[in-house]
Amino acid sequence: MESMTFVLFGATGDLAKRKIYPALYNLYADGKLPESFSVIGLGRREIEDETFRGNVEQSIRQFSRRSPADREDLNAFLSSFRYHPLNVSNPEDYRKLLEVVQARETELRLPDNRLFYLSVAPEFFEIIARQIQESGLGATRGWKRLIIEKPFGHDLATARSLNENLSRAFEEDEIYRIDHYLGKTMVQNLETLVLANPVIQAVWNKEHISNVQITASETVGVEERAAYYDQSGAIRDMFQNHLLQVLMMTAMRRPSQITAKNIREEKRKIIEALRPVAKESAGLSVVRGQYAAGEMGGKSVPGYLDEPGIGAESKNDTFVAARLWIDHPDWEGVPFYLRTGKRMAAKSTRIVVEFKNPTEDLYSAKNEKTSPNLLIIEINPNEKISFLFNGKNSRSDGLIEPVEMNFRADQSELPEAYERLISDALDGDSTFFAHWNEVELAWQWVQPVLEAFEEGLLPLHSYAAGSNGPAASDKLLKEQGHEWRLDP
Ligand code: BG6
Repeated sequence: MESMTFVLFGATGDLAKRKIYPALYNLYADGKLPESFSVIGLGRREIEDETFRGNVEQSIRQFSRRSPADREDLNAFLSSFRYHPLNVSNPEDYRKLLEVVQARETELRLPDNRLFYLSVAPEFFEIIARQIQESGLGATRGWKRLIIEKPFGHDLATARSLNENLSRAFEEDEIYRIDHYLGKTMVQNLETLVLANPVIQAVWNKEHISNVQITASETVGVEERAAYYDQSGAIRDMFQNHLLQVLMMTAMRRPSQITAKNIREEKRKIIEALRPVAKESAGLSVVRGQYAAGEMGGKSVPGYLDEPGIGAESKNDTFVAARLWIDHPDWEGVPFYLRTGKRMAAKSTRIVVEFKNPTEDLYSAKNEKTSPNLLIIEINPNEKISFLFNGKNSRSDGLIEPVEMNFRADQSELPEAYERLISDALDGDSTFFAHWNEVELAWQWVQPVLEAFEEGLLPLHSYAAGSNGPAASDKLLKEQGHEWRLDP
C-alpha cells in the first residue's frame, strides 16, 4: 500500500470520533495501513497537537474493535497525527495547510498522495473542494482522492449542482461517495452469494422469485438530530441512498468478470431500469408515515411531534415503504418492496427473497400446504444468511414444516463498514462506493415522490411507536397477494 497523507476535515466531529479514528486504528493494528503515513486533522477550533492526540486516543479506547497492545503501540500510531485549525472559507488557512502537509511529506519522506476526507456538514462540501484546488493542495504528482459523506444533495437539482462543482476539482474516479451500507459485511457478501454460487444464480430471476423485500427498521427515534432529520425524512435519510443501493446490489445481473467498473455498470443498469413513478400517482406505490406515541420495551415513548426540536406541525416522514418494478427482462413481474422507519418494533436490516411456490397444493389430498422457500439475508444487527425450506417433522406426525438452514459469520472479529471503506479508498478500489450515475438515477426516481410529498399529494399515515409501521404499508403488499415476512 502506498504511503499517503490523510487530510480530515471535521476532525473534532462526532463521526471522526465514533467511526473514523477507530477505523484507522483497526486498520493500523491489522497491518493494513502503509508503513508511514500522516494524518492532518482540521477543525474550526484552536487546539494543540497533544490535545488532539489525546482526543483520538480516547475515541480509540471507547469505540475501537481492537484495543491497543500497549502504550508504545498507541504512541507509534498517534505520532502520525497533527492538528491544524482551519476556517473552511478562508483561502489563507488552506495555504498554511499546504505548508503543513508538505512539511510532513518532507519529514516522513512521503510521496504526495493525498486523501481528503470531508466529514463536515454538506453546505461546506463545495467550498472545500474549490479551496483544495485553488490552494494547490490538489496539485499532486501522486494521487489525490476525495471521500465524501452523505447527504449527496437534497434533491435531484442540488445533487447535480454539487456534482458539477466537485468535478471542477476532482475527476469522477477520484471521488469516493460513502454509503456505509455498501461497507456492511452482508451487503458485500451479496455479490458473492449471488454471483459465485451457480445454484443461487440459476434461480435469481423472475422464473423463480416471487418478490423481494428490503427492510431497514430502527427502534431509535429522531435522537438529537432534529434539525437535520426534520428536513430530510426517511426518504432522503435512508431510502434514496441505502435502500436503493441495497436494491441495486440485490438485483444486479452477472457481469463477465468481477471488477469495480463492471459491478457499477451492472448496478447502473438496474437503477436505470426502475420504472418511474409519476408525481400524481405516487400514492399507488409509496406509503409515508410518521410515528405517534407508543410503547417500546414496556416504556412509553413520545410521538415524533413531541420530540425536542420538532415543530408541532411537522409533516416530515419517519417511515416510507414503496413497491418498485424493474423493467428488465429478468425481473418482469417481480415486485421489490422497500421500507424503512424509525421507532419500529425491531432493529432489523434484512433482505427477504420469497420464491414462487408451485408445490403449495401438492399435498392438498393430505390437507397440507407447503410454504414458499425464503432466502433471508440479515444485514444488521446479526450478519446471517438463512434458507427456509419445507421438511417433514417426524415429531409431529410427519407434517410438513418450514425448516431453517443457517450460515452465520463469526461476529467477533468482523471489521466495521468504515474500516473496509477507508481501506478500499486508500487502495483506490471504488467497487463499494456510489458512482455519480447511481446517485443521480436514484434521485431521479425519488424526485417525483419528493414533489408529491411537498404538494401534499400523499397522505401521511400515523403509526404507533413500537409497531411495524402504518397499515397502508401492509396493504401495498396485499394488493399483489404478498405480506411482509418475519415481522416481530
Ligand atoms: C444513517 C442515517 O445513514 O444510517 C441514520 O442517517 C440511521 O438515521 C443510520 O440511523 C442507520 O445505520 P445502521 O448502520 O445502524 O443501519
